Amino acid sequence: MENSNKRPETMERITTPELAQAFIEEQVKAVQEQVGDGKVLLALSGGVDSSVVAALLIKAIGKQLVCVHVNHGLLRKGEPEQVISVFKDELGADLVYVDAVDRFLDKLAGVSDPEEKRKIIGNEFIDVFAEEAGKLEGIGFLGQGTIYPDILESEKGIKAHHNVGGLPEELNFELVEPVKLLYKDEVRVVGKALGLPDNMVYRQPFPGPGLGVRCVGAITRDRLEAVREADAIVREEIGKMEQVPWQYFVAIPDIKSTGIKDDKRYMGWAAVIRAINTVDAVTAESVEIPWEMLKTIRDRIIAEVPGVNRVLWDISDKPTSTIEWE
Ligand code: XMP
Repeated sequence: MENSNKRPETMERITTPELAQAFIEEQVKAVQEQVGDGKVLLALSGGVDSSVVAALLIKAIGKQLVCVHVNHGLLRKGEPEQVISVFKDELGADLVYVDAVDRFLDKLAGVSDPEEKRKIIGNEFIDVFAEEAGKLEGIGFLGQGTIYPDILESEKGIKAHHNVGGLPEELNFELVEPVKLLYKDEVRVVGKALGLPDNMVYRQPFPGPGLGVRCVGAITRDRLEAVREADAIVREEIGKMEQVPWQYFVAIPDIKSTGIKDDKRYMGWAAVIRAINTVDAVTAESVEIPWEMLKTIRDRIIAEVPGVNRVLWDISDKPTSTIEWE
């Protein structure tokens, strides 16, 4: 059976590698006891929580864990490749990589309503994952990267604590949630102790629908590629700031404006830079980016990203703007 969903008051905050090691050893034992010789399935997005759970489960049960990484085409540059290199190549995980890019982008074609886009992405994810689960034999458990704030928020009725967006109940798996009593900072300390790379453990928050909500309006493949390339540039450059903002990215709305290229009129998109600081994402403040850095970002985006002829900086706070554009 699962243990309690209540964090004991005596539980020490995990802040050091030693405390992380002790936690890992304890959870390895607990998972081995829970799972026995059964098999666990895990949706591995490459985000902090699912990555830490994957590394922990690999340590505990090795090949009894099957990870499924669904590439829906809305991930950031280099993400699917990193999931494969870290988990399959380095940690030796049994990893099923699902290239579902065409499936998602075909379903999303022509859809401009943000909520409709979110719904399509969420539902399609569940369908793809359930199909993959159906192909596997002998799975009895579902690993989940539930963390303590998910449990607290679900108790308060703020959101259901389905980490993977509500995987179908009829899958009928028992849950394995080894980090469910941890806060985010503790999950990162544990991830570090498990040997995961810094850019995985300390990554900025990234929405479930991914770049889909930053390719504003109806998603097209060419504009999505432009968002991905411009985002990689912004992550690289703003990542050099002394105090790295809480979240920083690019959105490209579905609008073209007049520009000039090779002495000719050139209709292109505007890439919008967004960098914010926040404590809880309920309110947020636009972060001041040094002018020299803005110019470097502008020059690189214009030179390196096909289709973009203009670079803007979104200085809006939340409220009135939300952090994401959709
Ligand atoms: P907003 O745009 O509402 O974003 O100010 C607040 C925080 O939540 C993230 N976000 C999402 N995360 N699924 C997610 O998992 C979503 O659909 C989603 N929409 C926004 C956003 O990146 C920001 O950190």
